[in-house]
Amino acid sequence: MKSIIIYYTLEGNTKYTAETLAKILDSDLLELTPTKPIKSLGFSKYIWGGKQVVMNQKPNLKPYKYNPDQYDLTILAAPIWASHFAPVFSTFLRDNTISGNIALIGCNEGGGCTKAFNILEQQLKNNKIIGTLDLMSPLKNKEETLGKLKEFSEKLK
Ligand SMILES: Cc1cc2nc3c(=O)[nH]c(=O)nc-3n(C[C@H](O)[C@H](O)[C@H](O)COP(=O)(O)O)c2cc1C
Repeated sequence: MKSIIIYYTLEGNTKYTAETLAKILDSDLLELTPTKPIKSLGFSKYIWGGKQVVMNQKPNLKPYKYNPDQYDLTILAAPIWASHFAPVFSTFLRDNTISGNIALIGCNEGGGCTKAFNILEQQLKNNKIIGTLDLMSPLKNKEETLGKLKEFSEKLK
């Protein structure tokens, strides 16, 4: 099974998650990077990031290489912003059609991922979603995150 983890990170939690899972599954990694990054320091990140979600914005991304046909499984890993996957994924899903199965990972601070997963499940109706994982503050809970990722990876195989 060939897999890829497509992720975005503002403050490192999703990057840590994606890189850890990539080692477990031997997956390829693709980081999505907006052309105009949000300043990650201070409260303003909530204002600018929240505005992107509320306005349904699709931030432009730096060029990347992705060939969906290469993969049996695509894992989308995102920070949860205002109960949604961070908006760079709206851009990515507008511009790409994923083939094969999908798994979803949401990194959050305790608000959960239910709404975000429901929205994506509706949007990705043509794919089979074979797993979802809700991770709270992975960088603060590295041991627990590693355990959850190992367990999750078994379900994906
Ligand atoms: C704009 C913005 C909105 C957020 N909204 C939520 C939220 O609705 N629920 C939640 O639990 N955490 C929320 N968070 C916290 C992030 O989801 C959490 O810190 C995540 O682990 C960050 O991942 P990263 O370090 O990869 O950027 C928000 C963070 C930002 C910047």
